[in-house]
Amino acid sequence: MLKFEENMIKDEDIEMLHSVVSFRGVPMAKMNVENWEPVEYFQARHDDVVLATYPKAGTTWVSEILDMIYNGGDLEKCQRDTIYNRVPYMEIRIPGMPSGVDQLELLASPRLIKTHLPIQLMPESFWEKKCKVIYVARNAKDVAVSYFFFHQMVKALPDPGPWDKFLADYMNGTVSYGSWYDHVKGWWEKRKQYGILYLFYEDLKEDPKREIKKILHYLEKELSDEVLEKIVHHTSFQVMSKNDMANYKTIPNDILNQTNTAFMRKGEAGDWKNHFTVAQNEAFDNQYQEQMLGTSLHFRTAI
Ligand code: A3P
Repeated sequence: MLKFEENMIKDEDIEMLHSVVSFRGVPMAKMNVENWEPVEYFQARHDDVVLATYPKAGTTWVSEILDMIYNGGDLEKCQRDTIYNRVPYMEIRIPGMPSGVDQLELLASPRLIKTHLPIQLMPESFWEKKCKVIYVARNAKDVAVSYFFFHQMVKALPDPGPWDKFLADYMNGTVSYGSWYDHVKGWWEKRKQYGILYLFYEDLKEDPKREIKKILHYLEKELSDEVLEKIVHHTSFQVMSKNDMANYKTIPNDILNQTNTAFMRKGEAGDWKNHFTVAQNEAFDNQYQEQMLGTSLHFRTAI
């Protein structure tokens, strides 16, 4: 179980925490890849449910939805712990804390597992055990903005610098977890040979009930309409923002600083319009067209 306390990150760990290194060709937080064996040889269980995303695609949102589903919509049960303990983050390693793998090994089945790994770094055992795997994707522009603000909040991520610089790094795929394009396309391709449920943040925003029904169907679960409505309400941006078991407010400011921007920041589709300049948008669209050429994957940048 992760329990964050003030001043728990030592100065000597900061440099390590800020380092992003190339790991098997993917920029990754040095801390997370230093001891990769436990992740590479992770022992999946047949009833594990994996939630995979590129950072800022709505991971926490869908984590809360999944925990609600697995607890039959029981709000009290979903208040039992913070979201990062209910749905542990597989590849995370924080100095002085149990790793994500350590946490997961102690978790009772069925486990809900969060990961941001690109497809080629996923442990084989999830495929071998035929686990249910849900991927959530969000349009590249909103992810860029959300990731920029997140970098400002999280001590363990490199200083993003001004927006223009961060956007360039993001477009070059040098930020932690690498290229958004490679991530979303890699998982989309995998879907052709393995039954992944591939969801979109924008669809969830547009009609959460419809998308939660898709999740239920995929997980072969049934819930009454009443419970479904309860889940929609409880996982709405407004309600989740106030839920301390989901909004990361349990993490002290010196690790995740929410004084200027909240983790639950805006929760919208299309906020990028408030941040991209006309020139940035043009350059982005040009790169986007090149990178997405030939894929059947389509995103909406507004709903
Ligand atoms: P913004 O920064 O655009 O507001 P992740 O959980 O993958 O880190 O993603 C975080 C993003 O999802 C943030 O986006 C956050 O506000 C948004 N988010 C979290 N819960 C949400 C909800 N219930 N509805 C809509 N968006 C949500």
